[in-house]
Amino acid sequence: MCGIVGYVGSKQAYPIVIKGLKRLEYRGYDSSGVCIGNRDGITVLKEKGKVSDLEAYAAEKDTSGSISIGHTRWATHGVPNRENAHPHFSGDRKLSLIHNGIIENYDSIKKALINKGHTFKSDTDTEVLVHLIEEIKNHEQVSLFEAVRLALNEVVGAYAIIVMEKGVNNEFIAARKGSPLVIGIGEGEYFVASDASPIVEYTRDVVYLDDGEIALINKDADLEIRTIANVSKTPFIHELELSLEAIEKGGFSSFMLKEIFEQPKSIIDTLRGRINPKTKEITLGGILDYEQKIINADRIIIVACGTSWHAGLIGEYLFEDLARISVEVEYASEFRYRNPIINKNDVVLAISQSGETADSLAALELAKEKGATLLGICNVVGSSIPRLTHAGSYTHAGPEIGVASTKAFTTQIVVLTLMAIKMAQKKGTITKSKYHEIITELELIPKKIEKILKKNDQIKKIAEKFKNATNFLYLGRGYNFPVALEGALKLKEISYIHAEGYPAAEMKHGPIALIDDDMPIVVIATKKGNYDKVVSNIQEVKARGGRLIAIVTEGDTTVKELADYCIEVPDSFDGLSPLLTNIPLQLLSYHIALMRGCDVDMPRNLAKSVTVE
Ligand code: M6R
Repeated sequence: MCGIVGYVGSKQAYPIVIKGLKRLEYRGYDSSGVCIGNRDGITVLKEKGKVSDLEAYAAEKDTSGSISIGHTRWATHGVPNRENAHPHFSGDRKLSLIHNGIIENYDSIKKALINKGHTFKSDTDTEVLVHLIEEIKNHEQVSLFEAVRLALNEVVGAYAIIVMEKGVNNEFIAARKGSPLVIGIGEGEYFVASDASPIVEYTRDVVYLDDGEIALINKDADLEIRTIANVSKTPFIHELELSLEAIEKGGFSSFMLKEIFEQPKSIIDTLRGRINPKTKEITLGGILDYEQKIINADRIIIVACGTSWHAGLIGEYLFEDLARISVEVEYASEFRYRNPIINKNDVVLAISQSGETADSLAALELAKEKGATLLGICNVVGSSIPRLTHAGSYTHAGPEIGVASTKAFTTQIVVLTLMAIKMAQKKGTITKSKYHEIITELELIPKKIEKILKKNDQIKKIAEKFKNATNFLYLGRGYNFPVALEGALKLKEISYIHAEGYPAAEMKHGPIALIDDDMPIVVIATKKGNYDKVVSNIQEVKARGGRLIAIVTEGDTTVKELADYCIEVPDSFDGLSPLLTNIPLQLLSYHIALMRGCDVDMPRNLAKSVTVE
């Protein structure tokens, strides 16, 4: 939901900012803009479309200057066009501001400012904030820092902002509440960004700004941080662990394809150090002190959105099946607004790749108020969810940049599996031999995924046959019902084909009416987990002329006789099968989207990190 970058130092700022915006483009890509400070004042460049469009527009312009702020947008208020692209300016054009988030009370502030004579050029909430800062600065005769602080006291909503002032070429001001912001500290230079990816090649020393903090960033001075309540804070410098390689495409044509193929390695990274090679004992350091709380919990409430919610459903099956702990899985966006019953003895577990999803954070805040124990499963280290929760486990999948979640999903399932088996072992709800059988199977998963990835060409050929379909139905049962939901979501979001995921047996309660010879059906029919029942569901589809793509266990013969196309996956423990069956579905969506000319990394209307509700 918008990416922001800032640089102040002695280097040319524009190349650093534009490169940073490209790295943050996963956060929004409908328009972008930069403001560069130089001896003559400021240069402002904005363009509709992707950052490459801005770059092309800027190619012939003077971009010199050693201070700059830049923004790549995912529209909330106002359509994507040049006027609504950031930066936005104060009435006298002395102040420029970039913003990630939403100012919820912008309308009332705007009306008050209009009454004071302000006029606005865009439809954005952001422009209102920069006018408010201008109003306070002029009226109260205070410094820009103080004006920003006072303005933020009046604002309701979420923000990560950078504000710069024309003619002041050695400093700018950054602040955050609810949207992420990282400050990189170099030699006589500072970098600011929505995540560390624009910073990593220049410095490893970073400060994560906390909610409600404002930073005065002057290239010739130490970083100064205060809260919006005006309390001074000592910056805590972290060392970045991110590698440059991890945020580049590494020879793949897209991040999505790279991330699909990275899954065996990502899972090895997720498991690293967590299973004792000799005893096979599981240690999840991040939840060690909370294991007893989890075991004794009345229930685990999983809150998440999108793909992470699908992982949560698999988590429900795992926890209930293995550890006999009652689980509810909730869309965070619904949970937070429906007055749910949350007790002190509940464990609320948020699952999120980014760790910044606004609805998941709000659901956790609600659970915190009710005194529940808060856990997180996140990928981005140091993001807001791990900082808000009492305990949790990282997925360690490495940066996921493609908007479609792939390796984050599989590694979330791996962490959920580790948690569920650990709790099952501690509670004594699985036998020793079952425990060892699952761990052995889990350790074999990366090799098995490698085997499936070798079927890429076969899957591409199947995609060719179905690329012009306008609807798809995905069916699965048990552990593979959430995989059906996830397969349908993946196809929808990157190829723009309408797709629905359904529990296979529910089909006859409605969706079966959709089936004719134009309707492709993707069915997950692995040997374990209601296989015979799924075969009956396949017969029902066949009888109505549906075209079938089936994901089957190696060596299957029954489904092969019924389905038009079969993709084999290795056998495994039923609860681990989503880690395998999901892979061909990711590749199928990928190829169909590519054949339809879609941008798989930056699908229309979407953004990777949804920091607005
Ligand atoms: O960062 P999160 O895991 O909290 O994000 C949740 C969803 O926005 C995300 O999974 C989304 O559904 C993906 N684009 C799906 O591929």
